[in-house]
Amino acid sequence: MTEFPKGFLWGGATAANQLEGGYQEGGKGLSIADALPGGPERFKIVNQPDFNWTLDEKQYTYPNHNGIDHYHRFKEDIALFAEMGFKCYRFSIAWSRIFPKGDETEPNQAGLAFYDALIAECLKYNIEPVITISHYEMPLYLAQHYGGWKNKALIKFYERFADVVLTRYHKQVKYWMTFNEINSAFHFPVMGQGLVPANGANEMQNIYQAWHNQFVASALAVKMGHALDEKLQIGCMILYATAYSYDANPVNQLATLQHNQDFNFFCGDVQVRGEYPAYTNRLMNHFGFEFNDLDWTDEELALLKQNPVDYIGFSYYMSSTINETAADAELASGNLIGGVKNPFLKASEWGWQIDPIGLRIALNELYNRYEKPLFIVENGLGAIDQINDQHEVNDDYRIDYLREHIEAMRSAIADGVDVMGYTPWGCIDLVSASTGQMSKRYGFIYVDLDDAGHGTLNRYKKRSFDWYQKVIASNGATL
Ligand code: BG6
Repeated sequence: MTEFPKGFLWGGATAANQLEGGYQEGGKGLSIADALPGGPERFKIVNQPDFNWTLDEKQYTYPNHNGIDHYHRFKEDIALFAEMGFKCYRFSIAWSRIFPKGDETEPNQAGLAFYDALIAECLKYNIEPVITISHYEMPLYLAQHYGGWKNKALIKFYERFADVVLTRYHKQVKYWMTFNEINSAFHFPVMGQGLVPANGANEMQNIYQAWHNQFVASALAVKMGHALDEKLQIGCMILYATAYSYDANPVNQLATLQHNQDFNFFCGDVQVRGEYPAYTNRLMNHFGFEFNDLDWTDEELALLKQNPVDYIGFSYYMSSTINETAADAELASGNLIGGVKNPFLKASEWGWQIDPIGLRIALNELYNRYEKPLFIVENGLGAIDQINDQHEVNDDYRIDYLREHIEAMRSAIADGVDVMGYTPWGCIDLVSASTGQMSKRYGFIYVDLDDAGHGTLNRYKKRSFDWYQKVIASNGATL
């Protein structure tokens, strides 16, 4: 049986906006996540032409405001991660805690103090922090007053933010990622780019301009990080959904190839290889513009070339299936991506198609393409958990999901793929990004909180908690 490498980074992943709460404490400003209504309709609401980020607490709830109160309970939570044996913990720094509006020149000291304490708590247990600099939580002010990432002014603001956190934490934190799921903007630019219809989300050129600005900002972070310490590992983070052609029809095969370029690879190609890929204009022409229509400079392109990322972080939840030839094919739901239903796969309660073999394929595809280390920084099953009177949650379905994906990861390592680590998503229950629900749970730790915000917030270990503890203790030998 193939062994996981020594020092393999087993852990878990979260994002500030989905668990911290304390949304106005310690001088924090509002982030775009604070303006997202709760409930399965959240994306529909923000996609309305008149959505303008104004909070309407009479009509909507805002579950990200309180999260799971990790802001006050992080010590208890990190102790539980330590009990599971985490080698690393992936979390993000809320930009609006450090720069409340985003365009200030001086950081908010109280915000930094929170992350000082959080990082110290991880290190106390020898848990390696893995930090996402920006995870779907840019300051709301930047979306409202600057129009989100399509505005080049954001490069400077992000540079300042990244400079502050890299400079402050580079001695304690070796692993970083610049933007969470940067490619997700292809389908839904609100979370990653702060774009809604009212500020240009419906025009693809804005999305590509925003990406270009983010690529430049990311390269600046890589440059700054390496100048502080050349051993820092600074990665990109992409949403990867292995794509299959529905059948052998060349039309569908070609569509799948192009889907891979457009969605799975485009951002990685720029961030890993340091240059725009050959298919860039094919892709942009499809939306009625070309690369030369974007606002870019030779200096920026040189910066991209000189500062590629060190590794590829990616999320993997599901695969997608491309069928262009059947207009009436039934669609699958999914992690911000489309595609049709794959008859060979089962789906989660939210319609995400479960496909562990797809993870082995993803790892091979990414490694063959880039030959740089891969870090699976999100994977997991969102499910409705039942807690009994003894506060037990028997989540065997989650254990099955994770076991099969870890097996797939082991097979990919046997295939020759260099995998650094594995951090399942939402290692403690938190607010869902796509639906704003608490009832869509991923964690090893149950949090007593419902969709309406009621509950004691007590933490309880699920059955998967003990299972994952054994997985880590055996370095993946006991599944
Ligand atoms: C990824 C995001 O898209 O998937 C996370 O990086 C998100 O922020 C996770 O929570 C799971 O998605 P959801 O919508 O089930 O919370």
